[in-house]
Amino acid sequence: MQDDELIAHRAAAAARRRLEAPGVAVGVTEDVIRAQVHAFYGRVRADPMLGPIFEAKIDDWDAHLAKLCDFWSSVLLMTGRFKGAPMPAHARLTDVGGAHFAHWLEIWRATARETCPPPAAALFIARAEMIARSLQLGMAMARGELPPVRSSPVAEADQDRGRQDEHPGQDERGPASHP
Ligand code: HEM
Repeated sequence: MQDDELIAHRAAAAARRRLEAPGVAVGVTEDVIRAQVHAFYGRVRADPMLGPIFEAKIDDWDAHLAKLCDFWSSVLLMTGRFKGAPMPAHARLTDVGGAHFAHWLEIWRATARETCPPPAAALFIARAEMIARSLQLGMAMARGELPPVRSSPVAEADQDRGRQDEHPGQDERGPASHP
């Protein structure tokens, strides 16, 4: 394929992806994202529990808000604009726990219901809840708070096979003499 054909092909694929993005069907636009993100962080900054955590980390609020708009644009409109790494950014927040996340989500839900049309609000809320869960899981893992992972059934089967190699004549069907 020629270079210009390849570029056109990729542009068409990206346009198709954007049309299939979850936000499109429920009326999420860049303007809706901007309204939600700006209203939410306005409240968060004034919040006694969450405000100080953000103020300690964010020097340039314009840049942070632009990054968060890119994040939600990538999640809901599949524009691929977000280039950050949320997991390590949150893993560094060692004093943040479940109560903070619950409160973050309360403010997010209230803002979405006031700022967005109802189907768009429902999508913003569902996605934030899902992402919050995976961030919390990642943070717990980074802190060593999760129980050790058991080896997978495949790994266990491999180990059993290893043991059988050491004791030939026996396999999972029983002694070799068994019909
Ligand atoms: C209690 C809950 C939360 C707190 C206190 C919190 C706090 C923060 C802070 C302080 C930063 C800046 C980190 C840095 O630049 O070093 C950040 C970045 C970010 N947060 Fe959160 N956050 C919370 C939950 C969430 C949730 C639920 C989402 C998504 C649904 C989210 C999305 C992001 C994103 C996309 C960034 C940018 C990451 C990057 O720079 O690549 N946060 N957050």
